[in-house]
Amino acid sequence: MSDAHSHPTVVAVDGPSGSGKSTVSRGVADALGLHVLDTGAMYRAVTLAMLERGLDPSDEKAAASTARDARIDVDDGRVQLDGRDVGTAIRGPDVTAAVSTVSAHPGVRKVLVDRQRDWVARHGGGVVEGRDIGTVVFPDAAVKVFLTASDDERARRRQRDERAAHREVDVGEVRDALERRDRLDTTRAMSPLRKADDALLVDTTDRDASDVIAEIVDRVEAGRARS
Ligand code: DC
Repeated sequence: MSDAHSHPTVVAVDGPSGSGKSTVSRGVADALGLHVLDTGAMYRAVTLAMLERGLDPSDEKAAASTARDARIDVDDGRVQLDGRDVGTAIRGPDVTAAVSTVSAHPGVRKVLVDRQRDWVARHGGGVVEGRDIGTVVFPDAAVKVFLTASDDERARRRQRDERAAHREVDVGEVRDALERRDRLDTTRAMSPLRKADDALLVDTTDRDASDVIAEIVDRVEAGRARS
């Protein structure tokens, strides 16, 4: 049962890459008048900072101190690292290849999870998308959703994203890279990608985003009506 009257509304949206998290989160936030926090962008920004400083992504100490030092501002689609706009740079192939290594370090996760909780407190709630939001970051979220889609569909979506960024990639290569990242994200020791027991499982493969968004908004509103 939600305790939305005493706590800000948090909608947790988890799932693997290409499952539709960003589109669905934005739509839910717009419908409910909430802000969106893309936690993947925070892990990507730390990864970019490491690569720019010539640091090894597998170096846990360096990763944790980079996470502590880096000023990361993520707000409704805009991503800044130390005051610079890095929305495009964090989606590049080098960051994408290294981000699962960086995000597996407990020292990095501790720093970023604290910042995610601060962000939600400052914004009076929000739609928070990631991998461990319903399980670890906001286990008391009003509504938790776990999105999935078939591997082929997820690869096609990622290929479309790459094309939109003027990067031509083979769909088979995208699929291999997704599988590798899924494996790392689901098998890491700390906060692996996992559906929370009380999360709503939604397969987005053959569904319109608007339909999925409406289903989640209904859940949030039903919870509010009951509390
Ligand atoms: O959602 P994304 O693809 O931008 O996320 C990039 C990586 O960040 C993903 O491979 C795993 C990591 N991540 C995480 O470990 N925990 C989160 N809450 C969000 C992302």
